[in-house]
Amino acid sequence: MSEEILKFPDDFLWGAATASYQIEGAYNEDGKGESIWDRFAHTPGKIYRGDTGDVACDHYHRYREDVENMKKLALKAYRFSISWPRVIPQGKGPANDAGLDFYDRLVDELLKEGIEPFITLYHWDLPQALQEEGGWANRDLAGYFADYVALVAHRLGDRVHHWITHNEPWVTSFLGYGLGVHAPGIKDLASAVQVSHHLLLSHGRAVEVLRDLGDERTVVGITLNLSPIHPASEKEEDKRAAERYDGNLNRWFLDPIFKGTYPPDMWKYYGDKVPKVLAGDMSVISKRIDFVGVNYYTRSIVKADPKQMFGLSTLKVEGAEYTDMEWEVYPRGIYEILKRVQDDYDPEAIYITENGAAFPDEVDEDGKVRDFRRINYLKEHFAFAHRAMKEGVKLKGYFVWSLMDNFEWAYGYSKRFGLIYLDYPTQKRIFKESAHWYRKVIEKNGVER
Ligand code: FCB
Repeated sequence: MSEEILKFPDDFLWGAATASYQIEGAYNEDGKGESIWDRFAHTPGKIYRGDTGDVACDHYHRYREDVENMKKLALKAYRFSISWPRVIPQGKGPANDAGLDFYDRLVDELLKEGIEPFITLYHWDLPQALQEEGGWANRDLAGYFADYVALVAHRLGDRVHHWITHNEPWVTSFLGYGLGVHAPGIKDLASAVQVSHHLLLSHGRAVEVLRDLGDERTVVGITLNLSPIHPASEKEEDKRAAERYDGNLNRWFLDPIFKGTYPPDMWKYYGDKVPKVLAGDMSVISKRIDFVGVNYYTRSIVKADPKQMFGLSTLKVEGAEYTDMEWEVYPRGIYEILKRVQDDYDPEAIYITENGAAFPDEVDEDGKVRDFRRINYLKEHFAFAHRAMKEGVKLKGYFVWSLMDNFEWAYGYSKRFGLIYLDYPTQKRIFKESAHWYRKVIEKNGVER
C-alpha cells in the first residue's frame, strides 16, 4: 500500500514555541528586574529539586545559535515571549534599553533567516515590583500592561506583526492564585477569579494599543489552554462536574472574549467569588481579535468529588498511553477542541500555539536521541489537526512545544519537551530524532501516514 501524505496549505506556518523564563537565563544581567518566577524559584520547596531559571538554556547569550538551529529545522515561524522585567525592570516607569536591544537583535536574526516572529507579551514572568502592589489582583495592572505593550510594540512593531497578548490566563489565575503551585503561590479562589478578569481586561487593553499602531499588517490574538472535558460516566453528577470544569477552563475565557459575557452557569457557581466587573469592561475584553491561539496537550475525564476544588476530580484511563507529565496521549482531542472553538465561537483564524509531549529522553552512545514516542505523538496530532481543517476549521499554523528542552515551571528541568535536547551542564544542543522528522514534515509540508 502506498503511503498517504496529508498535505497542508502552502501558507501554513510550521513553528516551535518557547517562553522567556523557561529559556533565557541571565536572570539578573544588563539591568533586568526581578520577576515573580525568579522570586518563586529562589524560594526553597517551590520547584522540584530546587531548580531555577537563573541560567536555563542560556538563550540570552546563545540566541544566535538557537536561531541557527531553527533554520536547520526549516521553521517558518517562532513563538517566544518577552520578559516584562527585562524591558521595564520595575514593571512601570523607566525602560531598560539593554533589554529592548536583546529582543531587537533576536527579531533581526529571525527575519534574516526568513522566520516569522510571533511574540507572546505575557508568559507569566511578572515584574516582582508589581507583585508587591498585589500582582494581577490589582486592577491597575491592566493599565501598566497596556503601557508595557505600547513600549514593546513601538520598538518592534515595524518588524513584528503577530502578537499574542497572554499565554494561558487560566494557568496564571488558577495555578498562580488558586492552587498556588505557580508563582506567586497564592491559594485563594476568589482572588484567582478576580485575577482572571483583570487578565482579560489587560488583554483587551493590549489589543487596543496594538490596533493603535495603525498598521494593517498587525495580527493580534490571545493563547488559551483548552481541553475537551469528558464525564467519567453517564451519571448526572459526573456530567454536571464535566460541565463545570469546561466552564472553568474553557468557557470562562472564550465567552468573554468572543461573546462579551461570562458564562451564566459559572457566574452562578462562583457565587460570592465572582469578579468585580466595571461598566465598559466587557466591551474592552471582547474587542475583535484576529486569531485565537490554542494550546492543546490532553483531555480530562472528570467525576464528581465534593471534597475537591470545583467539586470534581480527574481520572486516569486504563490502558491509555501517558506522557512524562502524566498527561494522557489523546490525539483526537485536538480535533474535538478545534472543531468546537470554530463552531461555537467562529474565530477568524486559529493557531495551535503549543502542542507537544515530555518523555524521559536520553542521549544514546552514538549521540542520538531516539524519541520515537514524540514523533508518534506529533504525527497523530498533526493528522487530527489536518482533519479538522478539512472540515472547515481555519487553522493557519502550528507551534510545537518546545524548540528545546527547558525549565518546566514547578517541575524544573526534570521534564523534557524539546525537539532539541539540552545537555544542561555543557549547554550543548542535540537534535533529537523528532527534530529531524519535523524538518521533513515542514519541507514536504505534509505528514506521511
Ligand atoms: C504550557 C505552558 C508552557 C509549557 C507547557 C508544557 O502550559 O504554556 O510554558 O510549560 O505547558
